[in-house]
Amino acid sequence: MTPDLMEEGAKRRQAYEARKQAATGTESGGRQAGFGRVSKFGVPDFTQGVALYLDDITVSFDGFKALNALTIMVNVGELRCIIGPNGAGKTTMMDCITGKTRPDSGRAFFGSTIDLLRLSEPEIAQIGIGRKFQKPTVYEELSVFENLELALADDRRVRASLFSRLSGAQLDRIGETLTTIHLRGEAQRSAGLLSHGQKQWLEIGMLLMQDPKLLLLDEPVAGMTDEETERTAELFLSLEGKHSLVVVEHDMKFVDQLTQGRKKVTVLHEGSVLAEGLLSEVQSNEKVVEVYLGR
Ligand SMILES: Nc1ncnc2c1ncn2[C@@H]1O[C@H](COP(=O)(O)OP(=O)(O)OP(=O)(O)O)[C@@H](O)[C@H]1O
Ligand SMILES: [Mg+2]
Repeated sequence: MTPDLMEEGAKRRQAYEARKQAATGTESGGRQAGFGRVSKFGVPDFTQGVALYLDDITVSFDGFKALNALTIMVNVGELRCIIGPNGAGKTTMMDCITGKTRPDSGRAFFGSTIDLLRLSEPEIAQIGIGRKFQKPTVYEELSVFENLELALADDRRVRASLFSRLSGAQLDRIGETLTTIHLRGEAQRSAGLLSHGQKQWLEIGMLLMQDPKLLLLDEPVAGMTDEETERTAELFLSLEGKHSLVVVEHDMKFVDQLTQGRKKVTVLHEGSVLAEGLLSEVQSNEKVVEVYLGR
């Protein structure tokens, strides 16, 4: 690599780190504090078929229970949709899984052995839980390819070689991801020029570069066109099985596409599970209609 390119790479990396800290930094050092640590949390055990187990989780904010004895189990490779009215606690549930919010009581396991409540937010990201927030946070001035390259660099196995030449295997991985997220033709475009939906896919691609075992997706199709929504459903269906996915959505057509008339959905209400079953079943459940779908 030429000195110019190295310098450019170093500058890009600095800018990236600064933005990353601004986006995720906390008073105690948050994610940054976790970056330097050697992985010591063990490998998640999925042999029991459980990807995620939340048991009796309660979270209160000033006495108000955003989650109230919530119990949910997600199987390995499962795509689980979670629906429910505004304020039901869906986002708070994701905050608990990722360590952003600490529950007052209850237990949370990743696989059958890893106690999530004992890990910090960066540690949880590191053991294979990826989260997609609603607003896309791609690096607009970088190309689609470079965004994926940076995300790959978050993987500590390749972090040391950041901005050195990519290995063939790494290039292959970026190529595969570009195909998965339908952006192969846009690899050299600035991310800022992508449509809203394409930015969302790119961000999902960035998560995939870390090879998460569990993906948490909060309202992933909000603001997307019908066609983008449909392609997003295809994308998630292609990830099912290889990853476990928890998808929170209000768009019932999208949920229908994802569940294909045979997968279970969970309805949250006032911080607890109100109903669980096929979409058609919960859609005809009187309690669900009353608090959510009938409005
Ligand atoms: N940090 C916080 N401090 C105080 N209250 C909070 C906090 N976070 C969430 N809440 C409250 O907890 C409840 C659950 O909120 P949450 O965002 O989890 O709902 P949601 O199901 O994601 O809703 P939506 O569908 O609107 O996104 C709401 O009443 C919300 O106002
Ligand atoms: Mg929410």
